[in-house]
Amino acid sequence: MTDRINELIARVEAFSSRAAGEIEGFRIRMLGKKGAVTELMEEFKTVAPELKREFGQRLNELKNKAMQKVNDLKTAAEACSTAKAASIDDMTRPGAGAAENAGSRHPISLVRNEIVGIFARLGYTVADGPEIEDDRHVFTALNFAPEHPARDMQDTFFIEKEPDVLLRTHTSSIQVRVMETQKPPIRVICPGRVFRNEAISYRAHCIFHQIEGLYIDEGVSFADLKQSLLYFAREMFGEETKIRLRPSYFPFTEPSAEMDVSCNLCGGKGCPVCKGTGWLEIMGCGMVDPNVLEACGIDNTKYSGFAFGMGVERIAMLKYGVGDLRLYFENDVRFLNQFDSEI
Ligand code: PHE
Repeated sequence: MTDRINELIARVEAFSSRAAGEIEGFRIRMLGKKGAVTELMEEFKTVAPELKREFGQRLNELKNKAMQKVNDLKTAAEACSTAKAASIDDMTRPGAGAAENAGSRHPISLVRNEIVGIFARLGYTVADGPEIEDDRHVFTALNFAPEHPARDMQDTFFIEKEPDVLLRTHTSSIQVRVMETQKPPIRVICPGRVFRNEAISYRAHCIFHQIEGLYIDEGVSFADLKQSLLYFAREMFGEETKIRLRPSYFPFTEPSAEMDVSCNLCGGKGCPVCKGTGWLEIMGCGMVDPNVLEACGIDNTKYSGFAFGMGVERIAMLKYGVGDLRLYFENDVRFLNQFDSEI
């Protein structure tokens, strides 16, 4: 009988489980009506009186240990299952693995956000406008002469000729809408999709993205334009970046300029990306033509302003060293996965 008690004590000590069913089974096998401990209790009645004391103590020890074990395991199992239930309180939540396949921002969005962020620090706010426009907002109010070649069918997607409905070819149309509805001082940045009837190649697409800026106030000068763009270039391409302004022509600005930045790949020494010149052309800019201010109802004797516009794809190509513009539109995940972004 001592052996049997010792063996059962060892089994009680060794047993462990977190499953309520198994713990209950164990309880029945040990302490149930036909359980091992209950059986021993029956046997105990037949033990010789002089041995009763010793056996009784051992038997009580076994019974207490078995009861203690069952209680401990039950409490642990309950705690375990409430913790589990708490962690899956919302059964519709995506599983842990889902985050591994989370998407990332498109490189064009990343660059657009970065550009908007830089100008936001200079006090610019974002303005939006329709992609489907009319002649006035895309051309006439921007001082395009009636016979200007940019109105030609080759560049512009016309939806209807009469009344004129067309896809905007630049986001300058947003600037017109802002000037029509707001009073100076005006400081806006206009990001958006634009459309031009061009053959698709590695360096041109019929859809692309622009960010244009407009600043109008009393006494705004070309020096303000230059300093603002220098700040932008250094924030975007690095502290060491230089800029240069070359005379150019746009109907809506006078004087007008193209802005180049020093090539950030070769540091200005000359490489295939900058075609050996050390400079990369990134945007058009200039002082808003007084005719444009007048057409939009702004007093051009009191106010002056500057405007600038750049292609987001072009900046993204330079920033990430992407050689083919078409990649931005194909949505190939092998391409998109390469751009890290916080969601
Ligand atoms: N709107 C011009 C374009 O689409 C860019 C530009 C904006 C140039 C503002 C000068 C001033 O190319």
